[in-house]
Amino acid sequence: MIKGVIFDLDGVILSTDEYHFLAWKQLADKLDIPFDREKNNLLRGVSRMESLEIVLDGREFSAEQKAAFAAEKNETYRALLSKMTPSDVSNDVKNTISTLRSRGIKVAIGSSSKNTKFILERVGMINDFDAIADGNDIKRSKPDPEVFLVAARRIGLAPSECIVVEDALAGIDAAVAGGFFPVAIGDAVKHPGAMARIEEVSDIIALFEKA
Ligand code: BG6
Ligand code: MG
Repeated sequence: MIKGVIFDLDGVILSTDEYHFLAWKQLADKLDIPFDREKNNLLRGVSRMESLEIVLDGREFSAEQKAAFAAEKNETYRALLSKMTPSDVSNDVKNTISTLRSRGIKVAIGSSSKNTKFILERVGMINDFDAIADGNDIKRSKPDPEVFLVAARRIGLAPSECIVVEDALAGIDAAVAGGFFPVAIGDAVKHPGAMARIEEVSDIIALFEKA
């Protein structure tokens, strides 16, 4: 029986995936490296440094240069994040979280991002979840299931009792590897391992009604 929902953050709860794209695009343009939305989809769910390797596409730089590039991207990204307000949270997301919680379903965040808490503070959602697991809690980012396992532990549930909602192919891989019930949204709907595909976050309510 499903007793919890673990949401990815970027591209599921909020459209911060667009800000990741814009920040990486700015760096790639500066380095004269082709970068488009298709390539950006490969960065979904993976850590900042792993994302950088995908952006650099085999071009060689020293460890110091890479660290500087990642820091520069993060600075651009955080400048975009700092403009966020509670009005950036859709009614669809707000209503879904309150409906789930009112039904006694635990809700958690499982995100690879080290900016998770900064973002949730900005949009006024820091107290809306029963647990938050993020990039600061883990050694291995998605497709490794670590972040979801930490989130499940924090809400006191087994993976088989939790839905994971993901927009990343790597996130669906992680959910499958961890033994969760993977629900895909956005780019992840093309993943054959998804057990359900939704168009908007509130569609998960219907999954509970079917179960
Ligand atoms: C994930 C994003 O949520 O967080 C990835 O989908 C991103 O694209 C990763 O690289 C790490 O984010 P941050 O904020 O720690 O650089
Ligand atoms: Mg995502």
